[in-house]
Amino acid sequence: MNTIEKFNEHVMGTYGRYPLVMERGEGRCAFGEDGKEYIDFGSGIGTNSLGYCDEDWVDAVCRQARAVQHTSNYYYTKIQADFAAKLAEVTGYDKMFFGNSGAEANECAIKIARKYSFDKYGKDAERYNIITLKNSFHGRTLATLSATGQDVFHNYFFPFLGGFINAEANNIDDLRNKIDDRVCAVMLEFVQGEGGVNPLKKDFVEELFRICAEKDILVIADEVQTGSGRTGTFLTSEQYGVKPNITTLAKGVAGGVPVGVCLADEKCSGVLAAGHHGSTFGGNPLACAGGLAVVSKVSTKEFLEDVRQKGEYFRKKLAEIPEVEGVDGLGLMLGIRFKSKKASEVCGRCLESGLLVLTAKEKLRLLPPLNITYDEIDRGLDILGRVLE
Ligand SMILES: Cc1ncc(COP(=O)(O)O)c(C=O)c1O
Repeated sequence: MNTIEKFNEHVMGTYGRYPLVMERGEGRCAFGEDGKEYIDFGSGIGTNSLGYCDEDWVDAVCRQARAVQHTSNYYYTKIQADFAAKLAEVTGYDKMFFGNSGAEANECAIKIARKYSFDKYGKDAERYNIITLKNSFHGRTLATLSATGQDVFHNYFFPFLGGFINAEANNIDDLRNKIDDRVCAVMLEFVQGEGGVNPLKKDFVEELFRICAEKDILVIADEVQTGSGRTGTFLTSEQYGVKPNITTLAKGVAGGVPVGVCLADEKCSGVLAAGHHGSTFGGNPLACAGGLAVVSKVSTKEFLEDVRQKGEYFRKKLAEIPEVEGVDGLGLMLGIRFKSKKASEVCGRCLESGLLVLTAKEKLRLLPPLNITYDEIDRGLDILGRVLE
């Protein structure tokens, strides 16, 4: 029995997988079981920020594995303290909760938002509704699926969690009409990732923040995909000139070990106290060691400037491909629109040709490792160009 047959015999079929068995990785390239090389423009859906097996990252995780690999959250670890302090330094948020995934980070954000209003306005105020945007994606748990503003995710698993209202992205009137005194938070992605790499408009975001501040409604930024340097600033909120009350991170923040982070500002960082929330693995020492290694590298001014420049380089080169109609996104989060080709077919053909890419709705999505080299970009885009001929 080969690996794929064995895998399918025992693992639930919850993903439509491509026929690639990944055996190892090196730099920005993955290698299949058959030895075939793939340039990686997907980084495990924006997760392997430093590519495969970055030496400092590997050293940090291995060093921690030899010291203490796990302890319950009834005790303290230095590595969790160090990771939290680094995140606080680079994000400007003093307090955070560690979980293991984007969905978990968002669950925490939802709980903080609801309890903030519960504590301040009382149970009878029923101030628990959260406005999320149409076409958003916030995760696969029942709460985060309920928050996700796409009908296609609201199937089978009834009843979904109540208390989520969808407003149209970039339509401030729709948002205004949906806000009432039972709304405790608005949740958004600055660039909708799974929804098709759609950046929010700056004036919409500014007005949204103004309205929310005026009405004591918390703003939750889901930066699970856009955060951790992906768009060329450590947080994408920096480019919009706003500071959400809550920001969530996951994916790229720890370079391939599971970490979800819920960052809260001074307004709501005291909402959760002992017993209100928890996670056995949250803040796991191995995960924090990986996270500290990533954040220490990707948060420097030079590194982020480099991400922005590489993003521009991608756009310039992509514009030279005749089949490319346009490119959306920010930094190294790119959504390519084609004139006539179907992104899903292009994705499959790229794989056959040795290039890993992603799709997001009708677009081809690129989330390359943040430390990709110009030579690797050229080699990957050569493959894409040939596939699109
Ligand atoms: C914006 C956003 N939020 C949340 C999630 C869920 O993250 P996870 O799969 O780590 O639970 C994702 C995953 O794609 C995401 O893109």
